Amino acid sequence: MADIEWNDETHALGIAPIDADHRAVIAALNDARNASTNAFAEAFRTLAAVTCAHFQNEEALMTKCGLDDNEHRGEHRRVLGEMEMLLARAEKGRARIARAFVAERMGAWLDIHIQTLDSALAAHLARTGFTTEDTPATAPPDGAPDRRTPGAPPGPGA
Ligand SMILES: [Fe+2]
Ligand SMILES: [Fe+2]
Repeated sequence: MADIEWNDETHALGIAPIDADHRAVIAALNDARNASTNAFAEAFRTLAAVTCAHFQNEEALMTKCGLDDNEHRGEHRRVLGEMEMLLARAEKGRARIARAFVAERMGAWLDIHIQTLDSALAAHLARTGFTTEDTPATAPPDGAPDRRTPGAPPGPGA
């Protein structure tokens, strides 16, 4: 399956830690899309963990800059809930819907989410004087490779 490529025009928001997180989510999504049947559940678990860590980072930034965006937080909760449900099924060997989610839906969801709710957050951060010192310090989950920068090496099994 073709990889989802980072696209500055549609993905870059100009807030370094958010852009770095989004690169990591796309990398984990590509891993899940390309995972073999045996490796899929683990790849999907990593994707869910990377996505969850990223949502926590964005929500910490919202709190820090005083943006009370319940719609955005709610959308994060909704997607995480769906991913947790799909992960539970995939870990029992019923991965068909999770496979379809990464193949057909998550990339499109991410594009729209970045261009709407995340873009609004980035604009608010820019207006309120965000600096790179505010970078969340969350490490990749469970010793996963840090792919929050362009050109970082792929993880094991890539
Ligand atoms: Fe995001
Ligand atoms: Fe978001």
